[in-house]
Amino acid sequence: MRFGHFDDERREYVIHRPDTPHPWINYLGSEDFVGLISNTGGGYAFYRDARLRRLTRYRYNDVPVDENGRYIYLRDNKNGEYWSPSWQPTRRRLEGYSCRHGLGYTVIGSTHAGIEAETTYFVPLDEALEIWSMRITNRRTAPAALSLFSAVEFCFWNALDDATNFQRNLNIGEVAVEAGVIVHKTEYRERRDHFATFACSEPLAGFETQRDAFLGAYRGWSEPLAVERGATTDTIGVGGCPVGVHHVRLDLRAGESKRVIFVLGYHENPAAESGGATLDAGVVRKTIRRYFQPDVVDEALNRLRDAWDRRLSALQVRTPEPDVDRMVNTWTPYQCAVAFSVSRSASRYESGIGRGIGFRDANQDLLGCVHMMPDRARARILDLASAQLVSGGAYHQYQPLTRRGNDEIGSGFNDDPLWLILSAAAYIKETGDWEVLEERVAYGDEPRTAEPLYEHLVRAADYTLARLGPHGLPLIGRADWNDCLNLNSHSTDPDEPFQTAPIRDGGTAESVFIAGLFCLAGEELEGIASRIGDGTTASRLRSAVVGMRTAVAEHGWDGGWFLRAYDARGDKLGSRENDEGRIFVEPQGICPMAGIGIEDGKADTALDAVGRELLTDHGILLLQPAYTTYRLNLGEISSYPPGYKENGSVFCHTNPWVVIAACRLGRAEEAWDYALRINPARREEISEVHECEPYVYAQTIVGRDAEDHGRARNSWLTGTASWAYVATTQWILGIRPTFDGLEIDPCVPAGVREYRVSRRFRGATYDILIENPDGATGGVRKIRIDGERFDGSVLPVFEDGKTHDVTVTLGGPS
Ligand code: BGC
Ligand code: NOJ
Repeated sequence: MRFGHFDDERREYVIHRPDTPHPWINYLGSEDFVGLISNTGGGYAFYRDARLRRLTRYRYNDVPVDENGRYIYLRDNKNGEYWSPSWQPTRRRLEGYSCRHGLGYTVIGSTHAGIEAETTYFVPLDEALEIWSMRITNRRTAPAALSLFSAVEFCFWNALDDATNFQRNLNIGEVAVEAGVIVHKTEYRERRDHFATFACSEPLAGFETQRDAFLGAYRGWSEPLAVERGATTDTIGVGGCPVGVHHVRLDLRAGESKRVIFVLGYHENPAAESGGATLDAGVVRKTIRRYFQPDVVDEALNRLRDAWDRRLSALQVRTPEPDVDRMVNTWTPYQCAVAFSVSRSASRYESGIGRGIGFRDANQDLLGCVHMMPDRARARILDLASAQLVSGGAYHQYQPLTRRGNDEIGSGFNDDPLWLILSAAAYIKETGDWEVLEERVAYGDEPRTAEPLYEHLVRAADYTLARLGPHGLPLIGRADWNDCLNLNSHSTDPDEPFQTAPIRDGGTAESVFIAGLFCLAGEELEGIASRIGDGTTASRLRSAVVGMRTAVAEHGWDGGWFLRAYDARGDKLGSRENDEGRIFVEPQGICPMAGIGIEDGKADTALDAVGRELLTDHGILLLQPAYTTYRLNLGEISSYPPGYKENGSVFCHTNPWVVIAACRLGRAEEAWDYALRINPARREEISEVHECEPYVYAQTIVGRDAEDHGRARNSWLTGTASWAYVATTQWILGIRPTFDGLEIDPCVPAGVREYRVSRRFRGATYDILIENPDGATGGVRKIRIDGERFDGSVLPVFEDGKTHDVTVTLGGPS
């Protein structure tokens, strides 16, 4: 069952009814000012840091679901009836409801009692504010006397404190109304240089700044007293819960339409630049007034849409499969960009409080963005390098506002530093910017030791080599990519978070996953080292990779698939010797990706096992059988009920690794099939089962060990997006940046007889037509560039600003 449809032309997902199985959200803005918005107007906004600079309040674990948002009420002043055009919070019956989630904007519209209202919400490029642009039309045959109320609840202080420290926070709120603009100015000019404003383009009939005054005692957002009464009290409240409410009276003739614009903004006035003023600083008022003009708003929205079109034009495809096209052309790169910006901080599942920019996550998110935003990717790589430690390891996260690494959410994840090599290599392959390697960056724990990025990468590889266990495999530390494989913490204290519990690394627990990742990253770094003339490091890495492959072959192979790990007692995990957790997906993906087991058949055998043991209609499971009891030696993984999260769900992030592995082995039909099984657009048909948004990947889909197999959760902020994008564009469709040019290496089902890829790469556009007349599944027979025969499969770097026609014939060399 569907709750909407894709409008591919406009790059929008159109939701037809408000009561989706879960709030289906979108992001407004993807750089400094970010807003989350659901299909019924729920959500909140923040500037840079969802914990420290949040403008509006949101209640997680909310009942009814999705509480607090950008609320609008319309009231018919004749009979006192009122409703919300975005359905929430009043949830009155609406006609013609639709929500169009687009790239960086959302449009929600409906009609009630002959009054049509449509609101476009977006964050203009390079502004720290969001616009709600409303059009209200009287479709009745008689005039309408209406009242319009806007409502936001402020939370302009530490969001963690907001949920804990009521004795203070309920006594600090300060608000002002300056020339009709509601200003949230708590602590302004005391400890803060910033304030928030909420403004309305129309003359006000009244306002409200205190929640209690607006709602009335014991009432919720669905029935505010002020709306019921049709009048505000114009209270300027101190303390309590500051809100921003405008009341506007609208008298519309039959057929008349009116635009009303709200602007919710964040402003900084560094103390040195002005006195005690807020709005009087002039700049702020000017900006607000500018956006009161409908044509300025329309123009800003067009600029936003153009910016996305330009960004996405870096890679566009046309294949026979619409679900592939809509994900690759629009939604996956969009999701990658959102995840790149907010990492794992703010979604319906991440409160914005606990997690800054994750080291491992950010490096992977970058893989799906680097072709669209190379400059931001470069800056991010350098930021990440500054969260690296002298040991070569890394802080597991850093705060976006301070850019400082910290251990707040745990430390000692031994895979972390290796991901930096993958992101740096991807950036260089994309841009050819070798100079980035010379950028000097200080280490997070030793600010005086700035070293070139290249040295950071070498230290990252050496970090693994300095931490090998009894089988010559990398020690896992706290955990590896699988945060819940806590082999060294043995936690018995229910009050201790697994991710920060003390670890006792006895030098025994080893990870086959890190071994695979090391080989992958080690080869990339070897490629870099040899190209910059550091032969010594290149050959050192080469032999380290060979050594690691041997260790995996000897101690990381279980006969039918790759082992997952050795625990702190030296016992095998992910082995047929185990009763539960006999096979894990991660090493079956990463080892073949790194070329391990390709020649001796192990990789093929491992993929056979994946198909046999782990594949479901809803994707590939993380492990089987799921753990049914808590295991002290494994940690958090076994704390989840069977089929959930790391304990045997379809942990989507890992699926594209298997797709890439399948491509490396030429298993084309399988790669295509596996990619489609988790493709959210393909799952749109079963939205009542999947429950999450059909336009973005979710982190997990409940596994077959649980009743609700197929139900997705933790949508949006997941590394799945980047890897799905890389797997589909670089490995299935086979257009892959390399250090030396754009490689063409498709791996498609025989039935795909033709497809097109337009790829901007290092200053030229490659218009590529791939023809597959004989139904091959890979192998390049012939390439023509601008009509001329070209030998080889790595297209040259043109850097000439031109478009080049490339025709590729599949089917092996002729
Ligand atoms: C989750 C993991 C996550 C980790 C770190 C765990 O509870 O299951 O998916 O990576 O927390 O935040
Ligand atoms: C989510 C985390 O953000 C990511 O870093 C981790 O790899 C996966 N969970 C798997 O545990």
